[in-house]
Amino acid sequence: MGRWSRLLANDVMAWLDPSPGLRWLDVGCGTGALTAAVLDTASPHSIVGIDPSAAYIASATNRLPDARVGFEVGEATALPLPDASVEEVVSGLVLNFVPDEVAALREMCRVLVPGGRVTVYVWDYADGMKMLRHFWDAAVGLDSTAAALDEGVRFPLCRPDTLESCLLAAGLEELQATAIEITTAFADFDDYWQPFLGGQGPAPGYCASLTTQARAQLAGLLRDTLPVQEDGSIQMTARAWAIRGRSG
Ligand SMILES: C[S@@+](CC[C@H](N)C(=O)[O-])C[C@H]1O[C@@H](n2cnc3c(N)ncnc32)[C@H](O)[C@@H]1O
Repeated sequence: MGRWSRLLANDVMAWLDPSPGLRWLDVGCGTGALTAAVLDTASPHSIVGIDPSAAYIASATNRLPDARVGFEVGEATALPLPDASVEEVVSGLVLNFVPDEVAALREMCRVLVPGGRVTVYVWDYADGMKMLRHFWDAAVGLDSTAAALDEGVRFPLCRPDTLESCLLAAGLEELQATAIEITTAFADFDDYWQPFLGGQGPAPGYCASLTTQARAQLAGLLRDTLPVQEDGSIQMTARAWAIRGRSG
């Protein structure tokens, strides 16, 4: 998913259009896709990336050797930063994984200066994230037990109205939400399918749990239902919901 989160991060930054010279925090930075987009586009004074995974933090630290950047292991609900210490908090593709999302948003507000901004975004798993939508629709078509793993079902947070309620509950004001769409382009069916065979996450985990025969059946159904072009390539849209608000 990394190649798509990098594209998405750049589009979110264009929507944010931030001032230069600000102090930033990237919550759930992973291997640094959004941190890199902030460095490339926002001329930050500094940016701290935090993530609970020590392996991701090590990878991000290696990937982005920049004096303005610091990476630390940490949790969204217990950020290792003082009160009122940053002007911009961003969190990309993370909030649906956090058990108490309002507590995480309140914690983001704690580290913001008054009037600072929080921006979060999540994939529209239920509908607009087509590469996964096709996968789960095919999987559930063959095996109804797969429905319990479908991110579209498991992450009800990933809708603009639910996101808005969470930001309001955390005390954020002047909310603005938007849909941001990128194109996920695959050279051919294998380019689409291979990541499901080796990657991390619910869909690859589900594939790994199948018998060889059931996996081949799923691949066959996807081959028949994906929008494959004459040259064999496949292009789909992937929509995320982004929302930003200001601390009071
Ligand atoms: C899909 S990745 C997104 C990474 C990165 N923000 C990006 O845009 O590519 C989700 C990240 O959320 C992190 N995460 C999960 N639970 C978290 C929590 N409670 N607090 C902070 N980060 C969390 C994971 O470790 C992972 O790096």
